[in-house]
Amino acid sequence: MVMEKRTLQLKPKSVSGTAEAGNGLPPWPVLVVDDDPDVITITRLNLRHFVFGGRALAIVAASSAEQARELLSQSPGFALALIDVVMESDDAGLQLVEYIRHTLNDNRIRLVIRTGQPGMAPERYVIDRYDIDDYKEKSELSAQKLYTTVRSALKSYRDLTTIDMARQGLEAILGAAPRMYLHPLDSFEEFYSGVFTQILGLCHLGAQSSVRIANGFLALFQKDEIVIKAKVGEARLDKTRPPVQENLTPTETVIPLRIRDEVIGMLYLEHVQPLDPLAVHLLRIFTGQVCVALQSLRVQLELRQAHASAIQMLSEAAEAKDANTGEHIHRIVRLTRRLSLALGLDAETAESYAQASQLHDIGKIGVPDRILNKPGPLDAEEFVNMTAHARIGGMIIKDEKNFRIAREIAMYHHEKWDGTGYPERLRGEEIPLAARIVSVADVFDALVNCRPYKRPWSVDEAVTEIRRLSGSSFDPQVVAAFCRIHAEGGFSDLSQ
Ligand SMILES: [Fe+2]
Repeated sequence: MVMEKRTLQLKPKSVSGTAEAGNGLPPWPVLVVDDDPDVITITRLNLRHFVFGGRALAIVAASSAEQARELLSQSPGFALALIDVVMESDDAGLQLVEYIRHTLNDNRIRLVIRTGQPGMAPERYVIDRYDIDDYKEKSELSAQKLYTTVRSALKSYRDLTTIDMARQGLEAILGAAPRMYLHPLDSFEEFYSGVFTQILGLCHLGAQSSVRIANGFLALFQKDEIVIKAKVGEARLDKTRPPVQENLTPTETVIPLRIRDEVIGMLYLEHVQPLDPLAVHLLRIFTGQVCVALQSLRVQLELRQAHASAIQMLSEAAEAKDANTGEHIHRIVRLTRRLSLALGLDAETAESYAQASQLHDIGKIGVPDRILNKPGPLDAEEFVNMTAHARIGGMIIKDEKNFRIAREIAMYHHEKWDGTGYPERLRGEEIPLAARIVSVADVFDALVNCRPYKRPWSVDEAVTEIRRLSGSSFDPQVVAAFCRIHAEGGFSDLSQ
C-alpha cells in the first residue's frame, strides 16, 4: 500500500470564535455581509447566546460583497453566510451568491439572502434564479426569527457535512481495500502503515495523535508523516489485558479486531478531541475490512510456508541419499538468488528461483548409490544412469502450477545453450531461464568444491572456465551477470 500524506483541516484557518460553548468544540463560522453597520451590530447582539449542537457562533462581518469575496477565498469553510442584496451595486449580494456557488464551487455553505429593499430583488425571482437556501426581508427578521433561520441553516449544513464525510469515508474505505489485498506479502509494516493512514484520515486525527494496534506496531503522526516507532510491547498498552471502552477517557477509543469470534488484536486510538459517532462507525467498517485482509494474509503466508516446507522436505530426502549434497544445495540457493537479482529479476521471482533450486538434483533419488558415490570417473553405462536423474527429477515433481519452476530446474539444469545437453537437447531460450541460471550455479559450485573425482578449483580458475563456456554451455547473459558478481567480489562466501 502506498503511504499517503495528508493534512486535515477541520475549520477555517483565520476564523476564530468569539463565543465559546465551554466544551472545547469549535464554533460555527458564520459570515454576515451587509453595508449597514447597524445590521451587523444587531445581528451580533441577537445571536450572542446562540448555541447549536454544543457549538457557539464565530461571526465574521464584511461591509461589502468585495470584502466578502476576499474573506471567503482566504478562509474557506464558512457554514453560513447572511447576505444583503443591495450594497456596492443593486445586485452585489446576488453576484456574491453566484461567485460562491460557481467560482468557489462551494455547495455546502448555506446562503441566506436578507434584503431591506425587496422591490430590487423580488423573492420569487431570487429563489428561482439563485442557488440560495432562504430569503428574508430585514423587516421580518426579529431576534426569534433570526434564531430560527440560523439554526435551521446550520442543521442543514451539519447534515450535509455528515453525509459528505460519510461518503468520503466510505470512498476511502473502498479505495483502500484493493491496496490491502495487493501489498507485498512479507511487508507487514507497509500493511500497517497503510491502515494507519486510512485511520488517521477517517478519524480526522491530526498532528501529535498516535495510533496503535495491539498486535502490530506503534505509529506516530508527526509533521504529516507516519513514523513506525516501536512494537506495541514497548508501548504502554498491555495486550494481555486489552482495555475496554468503558474504562477509557473520551479521548481514547478501542476497537477489537476480530476474525469470526477470535479477537486477533485491539485497535487503540488516542485523540485530541472525542471522536464523532460517524468516525467511530466508519472505523468499525474499516477495521472489519482490515481483519478480513489480515486473515487473507495469514492464509497466504501459511500456504507459502507449506510450499517452502514441502520443497525443503523433498530436498532433505535427496540429501539423505548423498551426503555431499547438503552444503552444495545451500550454496546453490544463495548463488541462484544472487544471479537472478543480478539479471534484473524482481526479488519475489529471485526468491522463487532460489527456493526451487533446492530440488535441482532431486532425481538422484533414482540413481544407484554405487554410481552416485563412486570415487573415480564414471564409465559409459554409469554416465547414462547418472544423466537419467534429470528426467527422473521431472517425473518426481509433477507439472503443477506451484512446482512448475522446480520441475523446470530439475529437468533442464543439464541442458546446454548450444543444444548439446540433456535430457532433451533444448537450445538457447528454449531452456527455461531458471534452469539456465541454476546450470551456471551448479557447475561453478562443483568446480570450486571438492568432489570424489577432482580437487577444488580456485574461484578465479572456475570463473575463467565459466566465461570460456559462455555461449556453448551457458546463456551469455547469465554468464555476464555471473562475471558482474565476481567483479564485485561476490563469491567469497560460496566456496567451502
Ligand atoms: Fe544435476
